[in-house]
Amino acid sequence: MTEFDYARHGGNVFPVQPGEVWTVDRHMLACGDLELGDGQRLLALAGSAPDIVYSDPPWGGGNAAAFRTKAGVPRKVDFDLFLRRLLPLVASAKRDVFLEMGDEHTRDLVALIGELGGRALQAWKITYYRKNPCWLIQASWHGQHGQAPDMTGMDDTATPTAAFEAVARPGDVIFDPCTGLGCTADAVARLPGDCRFVGLELHPKRMSATLTRLRGIRGEVKLLGRLADPHPTLDLPAAQRRQRRPEQTEQTSTGSP
Ligand SMILES: C[S@@+](CC[C@H](N)C(=O)[O-])C[C@H]1O[C@@H](n2cnc3c(N)ncnc32)[C@H](O)[C@@H]1O
Repeated sequence: MTEFDYARHGGNVFPVQPGEVWTVDRHMLACGDLELGDGQRLLALAGSAPDIVYSDPPWGGGNAAAFRTKAGVPRKVDFDLFLRRLLPLVASAKRDVFLEMGDEHTRDLVALIGELGGRALQAWKITYYRKNPCWLIQASWHGQHGQAPDMTGMDDTATPTAAFEAVARPGDVIFDPCTGLGCTADAVARLPGDCRFVGLELHPKRMSATLTRLRGIRGEVKLLGRLADPHPTLDLPAAQRRQRRPEQTEQTSTGSP
């Protein structure tokens, strides 16, 4: 497998470490693992549930495992379990949810959205990196959603841009738990008004690439701290709180790989 040229995309510009939280202007990114609850930790730190979620997660267990290998935290991935960890994060959106997914798992994803209390509203056939066909699903958990345009045939950053131009409102928090190289982040940072991007990404170099991309649009990049630091607004899910032994610190119980 040829190693992706991260340096060409700014992947070596910022020395991002797993567990770190960085900001660019009002936007916030964390390097962490949604399978370990880092998405919930990041949203607690951001201080607000997202208004909109737009994400392009891995498209299957093999793909998710390949991303883990690239990020230096290899292991097998049970994709049903992966989606069951992703969707509660996604369901925290107060209004619109947009999820990209490959052909093989689109039906599973739509079924799981329904099982977990959401509603898939519509889907468009789009492409990813100008070559891979996939589906973009619009969904909602709380009954509130905007009128999205026909996005058939759109690609990369054009897709979230079209979605946000239609449904985003000034001041919205827009969350992507699988930020990658930053298509969603880029689209948010270019919106008029004061929308805020919050993003999680497993791979430090991919996150550095997004920071570099945002710096080009929005200014100064700063290291804020670590997701695992004790934080007054940290709201661990109840099940996780019960599992923690009293002597455990945030560092040992919640640290990213
Ligand atoms: C399909 S790519 C996202 C592409 C993105 N739209 C972009 O603009 O580059 C999926 C991303 O999810 C990340 N990822 C995979 N497993 C993850 C996990 N458990 N937690 C957080 N991010 C994860 C991968 O590292 C990868 O960057």
